[in-house]
Amino acid sequence: MLTSTFVRDQWYVAAYADEIGPDLFARTILGEPLVLFRAEDGSPVALADRCVHRRFPLSQSRREGDTVVCGYHGFTYDTTGSCVFVPGQKRIPRTARVASYPVIERDSFIWVWIGDHERADENLIPRAPWLADAAYTTVHGMEPLAARYGLLVDNLLDLSHETYLHGGHIGTPEVAETPITTEVDDEKGIIYVSRHMADAACPPFYAESTGIKGRITRWQDIEYHPPCLYLLHSRIAPAGVLPNADGTDPDAFHVEVVYAITPETEHSTHDFWAVARDFAPDDDTVSDFLRDGNRTVVLQDVAALNVLEQVIAGEAEGYQELSINIDTGGLAARRILARMAADGERVREPA
Ligand code: FES
Ligand SMILES: [Fe+2]
Repeated sequence: MLTSTFVRDQWYVAAYADEIGPDLFARTILGEPLVLFRAEDGSPVALADRCVHRRFPLSQSRREGDTVVCGYHGFTYDTTGSCVFVPGQKRIPRTARVASYPVIERDSFIWVWIGDHERADENLIPRAPWLADAAYTTVHGMEPLAARYGLLVDNLLDLSHETYLHGGHIGTPEVAETPITTEVDDEKGIIYVSRHMADAACPPFYAESTGIKGRITRWQDIEYHPPCLYLLHSRIAPAGVLPNADGTDPDAFHVEVVYAITPETEHSTHDFWAVARDFAPDDDTVSDFLRDGNRTVVLQDVAALNVLEQVIAGEAEGYQELSINIDTGGLAARRILARMAADGERVREPA
């Protein structure tokens, strides 16, 4: 029997802020069906998407002011999930309520706490400030993945696959050739994986968006905040151009690639991706190119991981993978996720 790999008592990205409006919006997170909407004052609300009466999905019901009226027999819920009306009688049963979820809107995401409400401290939400920063221009999307979230974590922590899976887009030979350094902050539960290429071919993704001709200095600095948030700080500059001694870096192009990895079920995942850049801010051609390019790359990963999920489903118990140096970050992530799933304890201190 499959033991759950879900990590509860954590914040998860449920949606982009711009996906949630007055209309009822359904999304399943860690196996829990949620209905999301904005109350009349604009604040986001997340409730269990199952009427307490006969389970009708509230997401297929309707709003009436700040209440949700079940589309089956009219049980009516306020934004806290309490039932304020039942048909045919005055007395509302004490247990007539649906679960509500703590929700925070931050950095263009709607974060939802899955677990014990007492522990829902908003200071624990990891940050991706570029996504809502006027100094950056961001494109984003979300692709449904028919694979367990652990496969996406493996994928993102080992970018050597760019050379093979994403050749012609973001992969060049130097990515797989250049060794990584991996650091784990066990106390905060953050994993850092870096690959600094001093003299590399410029892949089309960056050549066309930055306009750089010729070879580049390409840095990839990953920061994974398990379970949900993955940041890739990408620095691209003409070969030989380095940051100044004081840390300023005016001659480089900076791209902040952000993924939110939100399990839907044990075997499916919401793959949120965003690309924020600090150059050509108003150039829609660059935005369109990066949006299409990154989506293409994400769909290449999705296709590969969907295959892996099927391979795993069909394999005999006890299959042993072989790991090498490139897997150091992914293995550290698995260890931390397993620990978080097992003890349900916070491993990250409030910021
Ligand atoms: S199922 Fe919702 S009111 Fe009956
Ligand atoms: Fe990839």
